[in-house]
Amino acid sequence: MTRTIAVSGASGKTGFRVAEEILAAGDQARLLLRPESVIPSTLEGCEQHRLNLMDGNALDDSLRGADALVIATGARPSVDLTGPMKVDAWGVERQIESCKRVGVNRVVLVSSLCAGRWRHPLNLFGLILVWKRVGERSLEKSGLDWTVIRPGGLSEREDELETEGVLWTGADRQESDSIPRRLVARCCIEALNTPDSIGRILEVTSSREQPVMSLQDAIANC
Ligand SMILES: NC(=O)c1ccc[n+]([C@@H]2O[C@H](COP(=O)([O-])OP(=O)(O)OC[C@H]3O[C@@H](n4cnc5c(N)ncnc54)[C@H](OP(=O)(O)O)[C@@H]3O)[C@@H](O)[C@H]2O)c1
Repeated sequence: MTRTIAVSGASGKTGFRVAEEILAAGDQARLLLRPESVIPSTLEGCEQHRLNLMDGNALDDSLRGADALVIATGARPSVDLTGPMKVDAWGVERQIESCKRVGVNRVVLVSSLCAGRWRHPLNLFGLILVWKRVGERSLEKSGLDWTVIRPGGLSEREDELETEGVLWTGADRQESDSIPRRLVARCCIEALNTPDSIGRILEVTSSREQPVMSLQDAIANC
């Protein structure tokens, strides 16, 4: 049966790829966007909801009836250092609260390696890693079926990804390395399709030297 999967931050460089991968898998992608967000032409046929994350009623309307939500919002680099608090903590919290109100039980959150670290250079941007952990904690405490995907440094590379393996680990096991956004998008879909990923924080990086392994096998080998 075709599922409807909502994607917030669907105009972002990871979010649009998540939506594309949902479509490639034969499901419906429902895009949660800001009023001024720009999406690629590949997503123009998708259902779109344009809203402010702080507007609970609008969020409820956008999520009602969805089978799952992938949260791919994230504060964009800016001189406004309150962005991470507003988007990565409060914005995530609002989305989770809305999921609880309207009965969307499955949520995958794109977070970051090193979430929760205080001493890290990335925190020069509004303590972003601290606020990301606050967002993760909201999801962990939600009672929903949740998975957190923590990617390493994100790249735009799209070539030769079929033979590139993902290193899946549990929380606080990886500190560096990178992964193409396309593979992060596929990791989110794989998590949605892998019930054993529920209730787990999964860190992901990739390399051409890493053997290709399914999430199910990675969990079994943990
Ligand atoms: N960059 C890295 O190397 C890296 C590493 C690990 C994890 N991450 C995390 O991975 C996620 C995806 O990163 P990315 O670089 O692919 O994303 P991105 O291209 O920066 O996209 C961010 C998305 O969030 C939306 N957004 C930003 N502020 C918002 C707000 N106030 N209200 C609603 N939506 C808002 C943006 O909407 P608009 O299009 O309207 O701006 C966009 O859709 C983020 O959470 C990021 O922090 C990044």
